[in-house]
Amino acid sequence: MSHKRAFDRTEEDFGNVLNMEHINLTVPDQQVAALFYVSGLGFTRDPFIDFGTFNMWINVGEQQFHLPKRDAQKFRGHIGVVVPDLDDLKRRLDFIDRPMQGTEFSREEKNDHIALRCPWGNDIRAYGPGFGTSLGIPFASLDVPRDTADGITRFYNDLLETPAATRDDDGGKRAEVTMGANQRLIFKETDDEIPDYDGHHLAIYVANFSGPHAALEERGLITEESDQHQYRFQDIVDPSSGERLTEIEHEVRSLHHPMFKRNLVNRNPAQSFRNYTQGHDVFVP
Ligand SMILES: [Fe+2]
Repeated sequence: MSHKRAFDRTEEDFGNVLNMEHINLTVPDQQVAALFYVSGLGFTRDPFIDFGTFNMWINVGEQQFHLPKRDAQKFRGHIGVVVPDLDDLKRRLDFIDRPMQGTEFSREEKNDHIALRCPWGNDIRAYGPGFGTSLGIPFASLDVPRDTADGITRFYNDLLETPAATRDDDGGKRAEVTMGANQRLIFKETDDEIPDYDGHHLAIYVANFSGPHAALEERGLITEESDQHQYRFQDIVDPSSGERLTEIEHEVRSLHHPMFKRNLVNRNPAQSFRNYTQGHDVFVP
């Protein structure tokens, strides 16, 4: 008689989205942005894709922040990042405290993370290794109006073909969308006033590229046919009623996009001029 072990096989399932690869937030000052994202958070400026002083890509494990230079955009919620070591992060934040004076930068130690405000007020929460990574952007949480989570869950399940579920517990009522192996895009219902949408966006790579395109096109939701490998949409609607529930621009890329699975280099942020050791420059999450 064979002995069968029991596993939850559904925990291994992948949805249609393979990576929520970047979050794009415009910033008015590159020097201040570099101090925050590179010197403070310890991330790596993409050394290969250069935009001069007009844009800056910041590598965070297998994800990125894109920071074109323009008036500041503000993410309507918060963004979770994982850093290799929270104590090292605190030391780096000590270093930027003074030059950040006069900006909206702030830092506060919480139970399991460090709550940060970027120089323009974005809510970024830094965790130590967890969420299946030691460096990355494991989740982003958007504030949405009451009674929208169920419709948002339907939108991602039905149109984007990626697993989504509505949860309602101590963390509040929210739609949780699975992105890749260990990422979540969360839409959390709130009674608070939600600011107008200012155009910040995120990019996803999807395995089934044409299916969601057809479903979005049918509803008139495609906002840009960027090129062969990319399109964009912005409205999140309830597929059953067509009602618009919230807005967040998605850059949708196919697996044929030239940048899919790009090898993003990450430095070891613990290396410094004072403690330098040979052979430890690279960090592999
Ligand atoms: Fe983008």
